[in-house]
Amino acid sequence: MKFQSNEILNGKYSARNTTKSAFLIPFTLLLIMFPIILMRNTEESSPSSSLSPSSPNMSSVRNMNNRTETKGCDIFSGNWIPYSEEPYYNNVTCKWMIDEQNCMKFGRPDEEYLHWRWKPDECELPLFNATQFLELVSGKKMVFVGDSVGRNQLQSLLCLLSQVSEPEDVSHKYTSDVIYFRRYFFPDYNFTLGNLWSPYFVRSSDADKKGHSYNNIMKLYVDEVDEAWSSQVENFDIVIISAGHWFFRPLMYYEKGQLVGCNKCGIENVTDLAHYYGYKMAFRTAFRTLTSLENFKGVTYFRTFSPSHFENGDWNKGGNCVRTKPFSKEEMKLNGYFLETYMTQVNEFKVAQEVASKKGLKFLMLNTTEIMLLRPDGHPNDYGHSKNTNVTYYNDCVHWCLPGPVDTWNEFLLYMLNIESNSSYDSKLESVVL
Ligand SMILES: *[C@@H]1O[C@H](CO)[C@@H](O)[C@H](O)[C@H]1NC(C)=O
Ligand SMILES: *[C@@H]1O[C@H](CO)[C@@H](O)[C@H](O)[C@H]1NC(C)=O
Ligand SMILES: *[C@@H]1O[C@H](CO)[C@@H](O)[C@H](O)[C@H]1NC(C)=O
Ligand SMILES: *[C@@H]1O[C@H](CO)[C@@H](O)[C@H](O)[C@H]1NC(C)=O
Ligand SMILES: *[C@@H]1O[C@H](CO)[C@@H](O)[C@H](O)[C@H]1NC(C)=O
Ligand SMILES: *[C@@H]1O[C@H](CO)[C@@H](O)[C@H](O)[C@H]1NC(C)=O
Ligand SMILES: *[C@@H]1O[C@H](CO)[C@@H](O)[C@H](O)[C@H]1NC(C)=O
Ligand SMILES: *[C@@H]1O[C@H](CO)[C@@H](O)[C@H](O)[C@H]1NC(C)=O
Ligand SMILES: *[C@@H]1O[C@H](CO)[C@@H](O)[C@H](O)[C@H]1NC(C)=O
Repeated sequence: MKFQSNEILNGKYSARNTTKSAFLIPFTLLLIMFPIILMRNTEESSPSSSLSPSSPNMSSVRNMNNRTETKGCDIFSGNWIPYSEEPYYNNVTCKWMIDEQNCMKFGRPDEEYLHWRWKPDECELPLFNATQFLELVSGKKMVFVGDSVGRNQLQSLLCLLSQVSEPEDVSHKYTSDVIYFRRYFFPDYNFTLGNLWSPYFVRSSDADKKGHSYNNIMKLYVDEVDEAWSSQVENFDIVIISAGHWFFRPLMYYEKGQLVGCNKCGIENVTDLAHYYGYKMAFRTAFRTLTSLENFKGVTYFRTFSPSHFENGDWNKGGNCVRTKPFSKEEMKLNGYFLETYMTQVNEFKVAQEVASKKGLKFLMLNTTEIMLLRPDGHPNDYGHSKNTNVTYYNDCVHWCLPGPVDTWNEFLLYMLNIESNSSYDSKLESVVL
């Protein structure tokens, strides 16, 4: 099975009536890189009644207390198995999802995609317990650094947590750019959740001044960190970092200010180093930043590449994702282009993890790539917008419906926070005892 993966890009490329109309150039192709727009908290203001997630399997939760067992369980190896319970939240009980991922609101007819759970081979993945999550992060600050797929996870987390405790949107207190930089505060738990928009982690600019567009080649200064996040990140205790699809567009790469090559620039005397080069260097720069910032003491979670699932054409040539069931592991293997992309970042991560551990910093991996490769059914496709519009939309086979399989990422996150909390508790205990 093969997907059109060469041209995948960043999500929902739509012309909209937004205040950012300066970006809206009248050719659809020129619009595609206008980043997936706007964390509008939409027209919806439905009361968020409390939806209690289906009762968890207590024996599996109890297993978490058995440290030997917990540490030994590789939660990322497993299968998607049928699950009959309702999702944790829906389009009525959560007001924090944006339209683009609100597949229920826009009438996605099939529901099977909501009825699968990830089952690790060696143990149970406990159900998400919002109270437990909030207790673990109480008094802390957590941030998502990256692009709109990272924001997708943040919004899943907002939906999951708001079933128990309502956050306040406090973005305006921190920035004037409340479109790309959001901050939420959970007063009951003194917990701050934010995102720092930086799809490349490194400094970038449009090589040509016509704005964000696919055909314009962007410049990427691969060894210069993007201060939009690096200047903020020291304020956070937990950082979830990820990047992906933006690296597939045409890019010019600069190192020490000198042009060193490009991705798909089609310029004769500039070497095409493919997207891997930019991806590798951007992660290297990002991880180095985290390991060298003097005041950064946080735990870093690196969420691996989230594959897209365009079939029947490229993303901009009618490609879509209409499947309604997961793949089995036999049907779909991580290989070729996606595998190489994944390995590129994992290799950088492993190097960084060693450096980090010498400095007493924790670098952990949310190893979600293969898991999500099995979920072609989890994307909005064309259920991320109203059908009554004259705007041309591309199908979204990049982001994930909410609720949907992306909620699993937060189950993983909770699982790992639990282990972290216990191991730091243990090491404190040990240091007292010794
Ligand atoms: C809970 O999980 C355990 C371990 O997988 C399983 O044996 C048990 O049947 C489950 N119980 C329920 C009520 O689902
Ligand atoms: C912890 O897990 C191990 C290995 O599965 C098991 O042998 C042991 O009985 C468990 N201990 C407790 C207290 O549950
Ligand atoms: C990530 O998880 C997959 C299974 O989903 C596994 O095959 C792979 O080896 C893991 N990668 C790393 C670096 O742990
Ligand atoms: C929620 O989704 C249902 C379909 O699942 C739809 O009928 C309803 O209009 C949606 N409500 C809102 C507020 O989006
Ligand atoms: C969720 O976690 C809280 C706090 O740890 C605990 O009191 C509660 O029993 C858990 N809920 C479920 C359904 O397991
Ligand atoms: C809330 O948490 C912050 C750290 O995130 C801490 O500095 C502050 O003292 C806490 N406030 C209260 C009232 O506990
Ligand atoms: C590529 O070649 C053209 C024409 O010879 C020259 O003007 C340009 O500076 C060269 N670009 C680079 C990056 O070497
Ligand atoms: C779509 O375009 C037609 C013709 O330009 C116009 O009459 C109609 O109002 C537009 N519809 C919407 C929903 O904008
Ligand atoms: C950590 O372990 C202890 C005992 O082993 C257990 O009671 C506690 O629930 C665990 N903490 C979390 C957050 O799971």
